[in-house]
Amino acid sequence: PQKIIIDTDPGVDDAMAIQFALNSPELEVIGLTTVYGNVNLELTTANALKLLEAAGRGDIPVAKGAAKPLSRPFGGGVAFVHGDDGLGNIFSPESSLKPIAQSAEDFIIEQIKKYPNEIILAPLGPLTNIALALQKAPEIAELVKEVVIMGGNAFWPGNASPAAEANILNDPEAADYVLGACWPMVMIGLDVTETTLLSHKEGQEVRAGSDSELNKMVCDAYVFYEQFNTTNNKIDGSFLHDPSVIAYMIDASIFSGEEYLIRVETQDGLSLGKTWPFIGDEDVLARPASEPWRGRPAVNVMLKVDNERLVTLL
Ligand code: BDR
Ligand code: CA
Repeated sequence: PQKIIIDTDPGVDDAMAIQFALNSPELEVIGLTTVYGNVNLELTTANALKLLEAAGRGDIPVAKGAAKPLSRPFGGGVAFVHGDDGLGNIFSPESSLKPIAQSAEDFIIEQIKKYPNEIILAPLGPLTNIALALQKAPEIAELVKEVVIMGGNAFWPGNASPAAEANILNDPEAADYVLGACWPMVMIGLDVTETTLLSHKEGQEVRAGSDSELNKMVCDAYVFYEQFNTTNNKIDGSFLHDPSVIAYMIDASIFSGEEYLIRVETQDGLSLGKTWPFIGDEDVLARPASEPWRGRPAVNVMLKVDNERLVTLL
């Protein structure tokens, strides 16, 4: 199976993604690294441990990561989307599992070096841990197999602001750094995830599909998240943001995209956190106004998804 590290801020759709990955024989989850985001780091770490315990997978290490963005304060998260506990206000008891002593960035570096060209990194939250790992050990860029992020919006409006997607807006500096590194990078942003849908009926089928402890925990948490999606996004169910990354790693043919040079707006103002694709040819790139994109690597930006196949896989 494909070795993956999930960097995550659970978060209800993160929980769905973790469940999806743990139940996919195509994937081997070699660790979870946690980051602030949907809620604070203490809660996202506690939630990662709870999910693994419910799955009976206490053998998978959890490494605790950043509590705040590289150079900004943490905005406090989005409890109104994911619940005060980050898991849909189910307030499940603390897990008896503990995080490992190693930090998220050190775990990421160590594992990528241990398994050269074998690991796919799957960041599902703000890109702070990934940026910290890359700053500390730039050589991992050549040793990682692929980085598949949930984040950004190339040609789509934002969800955390009119301009920006939540994971990128949480740490625009980290995102600009990570999207500018020379490693095989896939961006699964709102361009695709806001065209996905797990309908209410399909959500019920997931719940009925298994009475495992993990499924119960995730489906209980999902009730609150679906409610938010239904009222806020006016859809009959919910978007599949983070689970889309897992689906991509299992079967990339469900998605299609195009390569773009990406810059992230890091200046405060209306567009903070916007992922800007470079549009134009070499000629345009040579013009002074195109300076911000010059020398940037191509990012494989997903633009279409086959929702039926995605939901079937999930
Ligand atoms: C992303 O933001 C978080 O709220 C979700 O977990 C997902 O990673 C969607 O913009
Ligand atoms: Ca997330």
